[in-house]
Amino acid sequence: MASKKDSSSRPLGIFDSGIGGLTVASAVHALLPNETIIYFGDTTHLPYGDKSPEAIKKWSLVISEFLLTFDCKMVIIACNSISSVAFEVVKKLVGTRAIVVNVIDPVVAYVSAQNTLKNVGVIGTKATIRTDMYAKKLKEKKNKLTVSSLATPLLAPMIEEGFFNNKISKTIINDYLSRPKLAKIDSLILGCTHYPLIRAEMEQYYKGRVVIFDSAQIVAHHVQWLLDEHHLLNSGKAKKHRFYISDFTPAFEQSTKIFFKGKVSLEQKNLWK
Ligand code: DGL
Repeated sequence: MASKKDSSSRPLGIFDSGIGGLTVASAVHALLPNETIIYFGDTTHLPYGDKSPEAIKKWSLVISEFLLTFDCKMVIIACNSISSVAFEVVKKLVGTRAIVVNVIDPVVAYVSAQNTLKNVGVIGTKATIRTDMYAKKLKEKKNKLTVSSLATPLLAPMIEEGFFNNKISKTIINDYLSRPKLAKIDSLILGCTHYPLIRAEMEQYYKGRVVIFDSAQIVAHHVQWLLDEHHLLNSGKAKKHRFYISDFTPAFEQSTKIFFKGKVSLEQKNLWK
């Protein structure tokens, strides 16, 4: 059996459909600089938001096994689409080998603890919104909340292609946020790990009328709390971080710079041969 010291120096495994989960990895790294990160982005199958639950589950299990080959102490599902449909199967597969974290539960706990909110909006991919997971979990915690969910499938590809803080992104964001479904909200959950990159544009649209929550900071604090609870915070220095993607193009390398503050060198790892 490994000693506490050995266990706490094990890495954190973080995965997503692509590079969007780097917003979570970046927040975790900023808060917990001693932790070693092993990241996997399944760029071969991106976007997951349009895929079937069966396919998302199948790929997530293979990626989780890959992360466990690094002896990760925690597996962080840094994607709402995966968290919505595959959290339970990943947890079952991982068993007692590591702690599994999704991005939805910490956000639900945080938002439902805000007493002033009544009408919560949620935006995300089709896969996430189809499960209605945010609404179900928020209402379980606080059944008086009204939750209005809207699929916004153009946003993740738009961000991935570098379209933000410009006229095109403004037009698309304004179109989605002005839909009748979101007319009465007092708060908005950005239910996709790509969306922190367009948070400022959404704040400009709402001009303080709506409180915005994204998963990056909330999940990073939850990870810190969980590691502390399990006496797994690394007191030594982080080892070399590794960033794997399943399909490599220079465009991914370019986009990576905007998702992760700091130098990242991507390695290609094809799990789908
Ligand atoms: N980052 C993913 C999420 O949080 C969305 C991207 C995708 O559709 O693959 O849902």
